[in-house]
Amino acid sequence: MKAKPRGFFITLEGIDGTGKSTQFRLLVKHLRSRGYCVCATREPGGTHVGEQIRRILLASRTASLAPFAELALMYAARAQHLAEVVRPALARGEVVVSDRFNDASFAYQGYGRKLGTATVRALDRVICGRTQPDLTLVLDLAPRLALGRAHGREVCRNSTRGRFEAQGMKFHERVRAGYLAIARQDPRRVRLVRADRPIAEIQAEIRALVDRFLARRHA
Ligand code: ADP
Ligand code: TYD
Repeated sequence: MKAKPRGFFITLEGIDGTGKSTQFRLLVKHLRSRGYCVCATREPGGTHVGEQIRRILLASRTASLAPFAELALMYAARAQHLAEVVRPALARGEVVVSDRFNDASFAYQGYGRKLGTATVRALDRVICGRTQPDLTLVLDLAPRLALGRAHGREVCRNSTRGRFEAQGMKFHERVRAGYLAIARQDPRRVRLVRADRPIAEIQAEIRALVDRFLARRHA
């Protein structure tokens, strides 16, 4: 019997407040309207255990979390996410769309927390192995603008600022530089999308990129 072809793995990345979640929702809607079976998920989270880890990570009272502890928690959540959600969906031939995945660990923990990419890669090899995104869209925006958006969203939700959003401009500059470096190193997989534009314009570019990749995959 012929094995079912592996599905397609798309991730959305960028610093906080670039509009990832907004674009993620629109992209999932688009793919479903085109008839794709879509597994929509996110990190940290995506599973029951992962959502519990997410609460630890995002709680402001854990501001003193050691960088290595933060990295290990991210990969603990990811290991569960891969086992429960991502790998089974890919094996069923679905299009998996994740709001953040392993590039976030390279950018936030590797560059932002200065743990270095070699450290992150060591964990990534063991935990993600060959399950890597096929296409990654990095939404790029100056931290000043992105954090303004993220702050506006928190005000709307009437919540206090998240732990990561409270990190300050220098941290987010390093994370952004990390994402730009990842995009430079892996231009076939990683596409930069300018996020200083209206939502619809950004979504149109994302849809064009995704449609092209999927068409190439089917060809
Ligand atoms: P992220 O998931 O990257 O943190 P969100 O999608 O939650 O970002 O967006 C953060 C805030 O910015 C939300 O209030 C959202 O409505 C707004 N927003 C998203 N995209 C844009 C855009 N292109 N222009 C202006 N505001 C935006
Ligand atoms: P979230 O509320 O999802 O951020 P946003 O909606 O702004 O994207 O919070 C997730 C935070 O976790 C975010 O600041 C990025 C951070 N993060 C890491 O530091 N490393 C990781 O590997 C992942 C997946 C997320």
